[in-house]
Amino acid sequence: MAKRKKNNTPDQEQERLRQEAQAKKAAERALKPRTWSEHIGQARMKRVLQVQLKSAAERFERLGHLLLIGGPGTGKSSLAALVAQETGDQFRDLMITPNFKIAGLNRILQDLDPATGHVVLLDEIHNFTKSQQHYLYSILQEGQISHDNGKVTPLEVDVTFIGATTEPGKLTKSLYDRFDIVHRFADYTDEEMAEIIKLLCVRLGVPYTEEQALALGKASAGTPRQARTLVLAARDVGEAQPDLVFDLCGITSDGLTEDHVSYMQALKDLGGTAGIENLANHSGRPKEILFEIEKLLVKKHFIELGKGGRALMGTGSSALRRAVQAKEETESKVMA
Ligand SMILES: Nc1ncnc2c1ncn2[C@@H]1O[C@H](COP(=O)(O)OP(=O)(O)OP(=O)(O)O)[C@@H](O)[C@H]1O
Ligand SMILES: [Mg+2]
Repeated sequence: MAKRKKNNTPDQEQERLRQEAQAKKAAERALKPRTWSEHIGQARMKRVLQVQLKSAAERFERLGHLLLIGGPGTGKSSLAALVAQETGDQFRDLMITPNFKIAGLNRILQDLDPATGHVVLLDEIHNFTKSQQHYLYSILQEGQISHDNGKVTPLEVDVTFIGATTEPGKLTKSLYDRFDIVHRFADYTDEEMAEIIKLLCVRLGVPYTEEQALALGKASAGTPRQARTLVLAARDVGEAQPDLVFDLCGITSDGLTEDHVSYMQALKDLGGTAGIENLANHSGRPKEILFEIEKLLVKKHFIELGKGGRALMGTGSSALRRAVQAKEETESKVMA
């Protein structure tokens, strides 16, 4: 990575930032699964998708528009890239931010090379407003682009749209129904996460043992992006030694951050069961933040959401104990 130079002129600084962004992108690309078998897990989805791809190819048709539903960092974009690789189409990855303009999408679609087919990924598609979603489905269904001046022109290129979303509930039913194929990512098991860890270790030249891979896999909390963060930290440490990696990343062996641990600690302080208001008051954090934090705790069955409020489960108590213990051990090592 380019080093910051104290006496850089604004131009040099801009160039440094450009190089840094490029290096980051290159590293990102270098760690993406390049083949279907490198995209670990999701066996059923990949099998069905490959049948659908083969069947479309045999009919000399394009694959229908595809919607991928899955949590953040679970491999949606990587899978979309593999689909484009399989169909031999050009791949365009568009991040839909909350202020994304339809006019911008129109321009991109009109500039696509008509000499080849295209797969266009609309990542975080739920960020389109309701009215933009209404507009989108005329593109998906009729292949028509409506312009600001009211003119409607046909989309002159062959495009398969892939929508990717972490929040399918924010899609209007009409848009949802325009996708010919909908696939939902399954949860990754700890063993699958360990496979991802091993693959990334090999790519980055980090030595590992089976045991270390399993420990890092478990701490990846079912999220390949977290696995990548852990392996990048292992590279910095020089080995896949779990305790060193967890310490560097500030997570526990269960893949919990400080926020998760203090959430569970607050719940414990309140007697093991508490309503969200009570929890918010006690921990001094807004409810909305707690809703985000608790997602992983619910997924791991560390807490349960019931009528009486949030309840800390036995597995959660054990995870909390492990976290507190590990923290104490690290602190005593630092003091020594
Ligand atoms: N199934 C997998 N097998 C191996 N590596 C994976 C897998 N899924 C994701 N990865 C790794 O995790 C990284 C992040 O995956 P990706 O960007 O595809 O996730 P995403 O679901 O699109 O994330 P976001 O919700 O942020 O858009 C990839 O670059 C790759 O290194
Ligand atoms: Mg993505």
